[in-house]
Amino acid sequence: MIDRLALHNFKAFGDMSLPLGPLTLLTGLNSSGKSSVLQSIALLRQSHEAGELAVSQYLPEARRAGFHVGVANQGFLLNGELVGLGTGEDVLHEDFAEDEPRIGIGVDEGPYHYGWTVEYEAEQNLLPLLDVDLPLTSEGAAAPTGPEAVTPSFLTAPFQYLHADRISPAEFYPRDHHAVIGRGFLGVRGEHTVNFLRHHGEDPVPEGLLQHPRAASDLLRDQAAAWMGDLCPGVDIRADAIEGVDAVRLSYGFQGTLGPTRRRRPSHVGFGLTYVLPIVVACLTARPGSLVLLENPEAHLHPHGQTQMATLCAAAAAQGAQVIMETHSDHVINGVRLAVKQERLTPGQAVFHYFRGDGTGVEVVSPRIDADGMLDQWPEGFFDELENTLDQLIG
Ligand SMILES: Nc1ncnc2c1ncn2[C@@H]1O[C@H](COP(=O)(O)OP(=O)(O)O)[C@@H](O)[C@H]1O
Ligand SMILES: [Mg+2]
Repeated sequence: MIDRLALHNFKAFGDMSLPLGPLTLLTGLNSSGKSSVLQSIALLRQSHEAGELAVSQYLPEARRAGFHVGVANQGFLLNGELVGLGTGEDVLHEDFAEDEPRIGIGVDEGPYHYGWTVEYEAEQNLLPLLDVDLPLTSEGAAAPTGPEAVTPSFLTAPFQYLHADRISPAEFYPRDHHAVIGRGFLGVRGEHTVNFLRHHGEDPVPEGLLQHPRAASDLLRDQAAAWMGDLCPGVDIRADAIEGVDAVRLSYGFQGTLGPTRRRRPSHVGFGLTYVLPIVVACLTARPGSLVLLENPEAHLHPHGQTQMATLCAAAAAQGAQVIMETHSDHVINGVRLAVKQERLTPGQAVFHYFRGDGTGVEVVSPRIDADGMLDQWPEGFFDELENTLDQLIG
């Protein structure tokens, strides 16, 4: 699990060190840097997957050089499957302080600290790696104890990253065998979710909080339908191949008062159902060690549905995944508070950050939660809109 993320000269952040937990909520004004936090993690994954951060090969060199090496032909790959960040000029923090600016991302994972520093090149989309400092223990400079220390697990763990802009109701969805079978990846827009369900619908969801109490079975298909049923009662989902075409089809059925309805296409049911499906599947398939990055899981859901998404995300985190989400929803925040109060999540597992950006820098306030689900502070602007509006209404 990533315990702390440090950013240097990365987009809105000059220097930022952010503790992360099993369930981290990034909240705050629009354009305050929340997505950039997720992007920095995705950037490391993307660079690593492309072979541009092949960490393990540094070890012998790192040993010789006292864990601090320069590496040629490697670096941050700014544009790829997970994020498209443009060129160095887009990414470099505008108010950088050095003569020769560098961009750095550091990660603490358990006892180890890892860091990558790249050179700034305005026009490039592969920023060359200058320094790797790995793996030191965060207490000091003890030598790595085993292979697990060589590559941080967040670079290789099962991973999902769902952008705010996700699949909408469509006639068909892609059928990418490699994404779904080879990598178990839903796609940043959730575009592989339907095909994933087709292949993995019969996989069991492990016992515990992820299992919905009213699901017909422990199979992913039924579990997903049960969680979706909290958004729209009686719904069931089906994913079918379209013969002769490299595409798959999604359909919904409903348990009406007179029995099941005909199957319906996504465009004939509520937009929110299809929009949230990737979130539901990402959470239900998260396992201990998985890393799940979510932007606005609440989008297009009615208030109770938003609370249910918080419940589901909390369940994934309680069962050992790391979930980091950006949210604007009171109901998501309150759903997580309730999960803590009801002991489905410990207070230490839920981390809240409130970002305040003024266009030149970002300040982060981090309310702490207690066992009753109460937060120790409510900074101005942090989910106080309801109260402010009510004051005016009754004042
Ligand atoms: N290179 C940069 N230097 C400084 N600030 C930047 C840079 N790139 C983006 N930003 C700032 O980052 C903010 C956008 O961050 P983002 O993570 O998308 O916000 P959020 O997800 O909170 O809406 C904007 O305020 C933008 O001005
Ligand atoms: Mg954002």
